[in-house]
Parts: sequence; structure tokens; C-alpha cells
Amino acid sequence: MAHLSSTIIRGSRIVRNLVMDLRFGKVLGGTYLQKIKPTENSDYEALSRIFKNRINDDDILVDVGCGNGRVINWWLQHHPKNKMIGIELSEEIASKTSVRLQRFPNVTIIQGNAIESLPDDGTLFYFYNPFKRDVVRKFNEQIKRQFKSTQNVRFFYYNCKYVDIFERDPKWHVEFVDLGGPSSAPFDTLAIMRLIE
Ligand SMILES: C[S@@+](CC[C@H](N)C(=O)[O-])C[C@H]1O[C@@H](n2cnc3c(N)ncnc32)[C@H](O)[C@@H]1O
Repeated sequence: MAHLSSTIIRGSRIVRNLVMDLRFGKVLGGTYLQKIKPTENSDYEALSRIFKNRINDDDILVDVGCGNGRVINWWLQHHPKNKMIGIELSEEIASKTSVRLQRFPNVTIIQGNAIESLPDDGTLFYFYNPFKRDVVRKFNEQIKRQFKSTQNVRFFYYNCKYVDIFERDPKWHVEFVDLGGPSSAPFDTLAIMRLIE
């Protein structure tokens, strides 16, 4: 019974994600058409739970490892005036995402390694488990070199597999957010992290 209910919930998420993707021009695959696009996309309902009441009008939004750009779709729908930056390592994926979103002047897609391309003016950085442990370590060191606690920059780490790296580092304050969802198909955990003195 639990298996059936989780299958139904996942199926309805697939359909909902597909319909939302189409509003921005293209089915992005990932969470439901893995063979077509070899990258995972965040779920739209999860994104609503992650960002609702947590984005300011003057935030510069950065998706670290933006993949097909679904997070940027969500930001465009709910915060269409904010400046948005997606950083993507894969040339092919970055190029397709850049072309798809080229009609939005407030969106920039940077192709490159996020560790070397974090924009200095970013204020809210989102990352959906894009890195293995060793890269998360480098990411942590780069953030600490580049940003100061006084800047009040926030880092949203979804499906935060290697969050222990930040938890063990006294330079960080880490807050866990339970995004809920049905017990048979709960959303992943979100960590909201800030640098401290
Ligand atoms: C799980 S996908 C997330 C896509 C998107 N952020 C979302 O939530 O829908 C992670 C993406 O990070 C990209 N990535 C992995 N390592 C990266 C790096 N060092 N710099 C930039 N992008 C990277 C991968 O190519 C992949 O497209």
C-alpha cells in the first residue's frame, strides 16, 4: 500500500513538473526522463517550499550547478525582477540552458567550474547536491576566501549529503529545514547556511 501511494505521488510530481517546465519552453527531464538529460532537476513543489518567504527583492540569486535551469524557471515565475545567475560545468548543458533562457535579460548562464566562478555580488546561493565530498570541501574553502560574514550571504544546500563539512566548521551557522511532504515520498532536507564571525 505504501509503495502504491509513493508511486502515485511520484507520478503526479512528474506530470506537474512537466507542465511547469513547458511554461518556460521545454521539458527538462532529469527527475523523470533521466535517459534524455543526464542531470537531476529540483522538483517545483520542493522549490516552493525552499524559497517561499526567503527571497528579498534585492537578492542576487545564484544556482550553483544550474543544469537545465529549472530553478531559474521557478525564480522567473515568482521573482521575475531579481538578477539571476546559473553556473554549469557541462558545456553542452550550459549552452542549451543559456539559449532557452536568452530572452530574459536578468538571467546570465556562466559555463565553468562553480568553485572558480562564484559571483562576488551573489546574495543567495542554491545548490542541489552538485558536488562529491572533495569538491564540497573546496567549495567551502572558496566561499570563506571570497565572502565575509558581514555580507549576510545565504547558502541553500538541498539534499545536503555532505553538510557535515559545514557543520564541523566553526565559521558556519547551519539551520536544517524539514520540507515535509507525504510520509511515503518526503522531500529531501534543506540546510540554510550563513558565515559567522
Ligand atoms: C543535480 S544537478 C542540479 C540542477 C539544478 N540546480 C536543479 O536543482 O534543478 C547538478 C548540476 O551541477 C553541475 N555541476 C557539477 N559539478 C559542477 C561544478 N564544479 N561547477 C558547476 N556545475 C557543476 C552538473 O553538471 C549538474 O548539471
